[in-house]
Amino acid sequence: MPVLTVPAYAKLNLTLDVVGKRPDGYHDMCMVMQSIGLEDELTIEAAPGSGITIHTNMSYLPGDGRNLAAVAAKRFFEATGESLNLSIDLRKRIPVCAGMGGGSSDAAAVLRALNQLAGADLSTDELAAIGERVGSDVPFCVLGGAALAEGKGERLTPLPPLPPCSIVVCKPPFSISTPELFGTLCLKKLRGRPDTPGVLAALEAGDLTGVARRLYNVFEDALSPRQARVVGEIKDTLIAEGALGACMSGTGPTVFGLFPSAVPAEAAARVLREEYRDVFVTGPV
Ligand code: C5P
Repeated sequence: MPVLTVPAYAKLNLTLDVVGKRPDGYHDMCMVMQSIGLEDELTIEAAPGSGITIHTNMSYLPGDGRNLAAVAAKRFFEATGESLNLSIDLRKRIPVCAGMGGGSSDAAAVLRALNQLAGADLSTDELAAIGERVGSDVPFCVLGGAALAEGKGERLTPLPPLPPCSIVVCKPPFSISTPELFGTLCLKKLRGRPDTPGVLAALEAGDLTGVARRLYNVFEDALSPRQARVVGEIKDTLIAEGALGACMSGTGPTVFGLFPSAVPAEAAARVLREEYRDVFVTGPV
C-alpha cells in the first residue's frame, strides 16, 4: 500500500497590506510571504476506496471532513476524478490559529502528496488552483519559498528568498479569529502601510537589514488593546535582544523577529520562554 510522509512548512508575512474590500466579501491583499522551517508532518496512506480518516496529535483539531487536510483531499479528487481511501496521520508542531498558515500548509502538503500517490502529474499552478478553493493561503503554501501574494492571496509572484538568518517565532497564549479581525479592520484608520516595493528591492539585493527594517502588518492596528500590548511587548523583547526587525504574522497573534545569526536568536528565545510556551528558533526555507 503506498505511503508517503511529507513536511508542511509554516509561513510568515514579512509584509501584510489589505488593499480593499471585494464584492464577494473577501479582501484584496498585498503580502510578502516566506516559508520557514517550523513544520507539521503528514503521513498519508492510500488504498483503493473512497474514505478519508485523519488522526492528529492535537485533540482539539477536527479529525473529520472539516479538517483542511480532508477538504484538500476532497477538492483534489473532485478535480481529478480519482478517488482513494486515505488515512492521514497529522503530527502538528505549528501552533494552531496563529497566523502562520498551519492548516493551509497541511492542505497544500496533502495536494502535493496526492499528486504523487495518484500519479496525477498536475503542475504546481494546477495544484494551487485546487488549493484556492480550500483557503486563501493554500496557493502560497503549494508554491512555498518566498512570494508576493495578491488578490485574495492566490495571485503569486515568486521572489528571491529571505537571506540566510535566524528567525525567532513566539505565539502568545490566545487565538485571533481571522474573519473577526478582517471585520474589525478599518482601512481608513490605518496608522501606516508597508513599504512593499522597498521589501521587494531588499529581497532582490539580498539585504536582510533592509527587509527587517520594513516588516509591517496592518492587522496590528486592528488588535484589541490587550492583544496589542502583548504583541508590542514581544516585539520590544525581540528588538532588545538584537532582532533587526520584528512583526506580527498574518492575522496573528504570532510575532517573529529576524536575527543575523543563531546566537542572539537563541538568547532571545530563552528570554521569551520565561513567559511564553510556544517559542521556536528557525530559518527561511
Ligand atoms: O480563505 P480563508 O478560508 O482562509 O479565509 C478565512 C476568512 O478570512 C474569510 O472567510 C474572510 O472572512 C477572510 N478573508 C478575507 N479576505 C481574504 C482572505 C480571507 O476577507 N483575502
